[in-house]
Amino acid sequence: MALLEIDNVRHSFGGLVAIDRVSFEVAPGQIKSVIGPNGAGKTTLFNIVCGLLRPESGSIRFGDRSITGFKPYQIARAGVSRTFQNPSLFLQMNVLENVMVGRHCRTRWEFLGCGVRWPGQPKEEAAIREAAQTQLEYVGLAHLAECPAGALAFGERRMVELARALATEPQLLLLDEPGSGLNTREKADLGRMIRRVRERGVTILLVEHDMTLVMDLSDAILVLHNGARIAEGTPSEIQNDDKVVRVYLGGEMNHVAAS
Ligand SMILES: Nc1ncnc2c1ncn2[C@@H]1O[C@H](COP(=O)(O)OP(=O)(O)O)[C@@H](O)[C@H]1O
Ligand SMILES: [Mg+2]
Repeated sequence: MALLEIDNVRHSFGGLVAIDRVSFEVAPGQIKSVIGPNGAGKTTLFNIVCGLLRPESGSIRFGDRSITGFKPYQIARAGVSRTFQNPSLFLQMNVLENVMVGRHCRTRWEFLGCGVRWPGQPKEEAAIREAAQTQLEYVGLAHLAECPAGALAFGERRMVELARALATEPQLLLLDEPGSGLNTREKADLGRMIRRVRERGVTILLVEHDMTLVMDLSDAILVLHNGARIAEGTPSEIQNDDKVVRVYLGGEMNHVAAS
């Protein structure tokens, strides 16, 4: 059974149909990519899956239950985590604290105001800190734990965001253009990191413009254009799909060839 099943989902902003009756599935353990030109609806699709937007119609199943209409925190609790197209860290907080924010969805904390204290809280805090530290080590940034997030280089911020997403112990991880703004070496590191995350059993849905990364990592690729699904297949099927080449890959693969 698929881990995620999107069925006939539609969403519009005013008169603009951003996602037009899109259906697809993500199998457990798969790395699936969603590609398409800017404005195709990729981020909107992610926002629907993680509950930031509610689809006008259609349904979403995760695991063995419907999550259609669930709130973001409920979907996070169910096991879906994400990173954003523009890294969204708390710049005044240090790196470790930023990762701890992710961990809180696995604890009682979210139900309580910050001022509330109860017996056992310091212990829970210590456990959160330790789990966050583990994720930071995982992405190779443990040495920056005490550094304010605002002082990090762009590529490091992306990795901290990844650590924060992993701290929720997701079954499904949505990555929205994790390679954008990274240099060649950082992109290669990212590719290895995404593989390692999958090897630990996390299913991945990836939006990315770097076709070297996409073709290298993906088990399957879904292509969106003007909010609609225009193709789906293996990397080689997608690279040889005339329609996909015409609306998107023609331009993108030239970059690959040139780099
Ligand atoms: N909050 C919003 N309000 C109005 N239009 C939006 C909003 N978010 C996205 N759109 C529009 O929806 C379409 C899809 O956008 P988006 O999902 O961001 O595309 P992508 O991530 O593929 O570049 C675009 O035409 C965009 O301008
Ligand atoms: Mg986008």
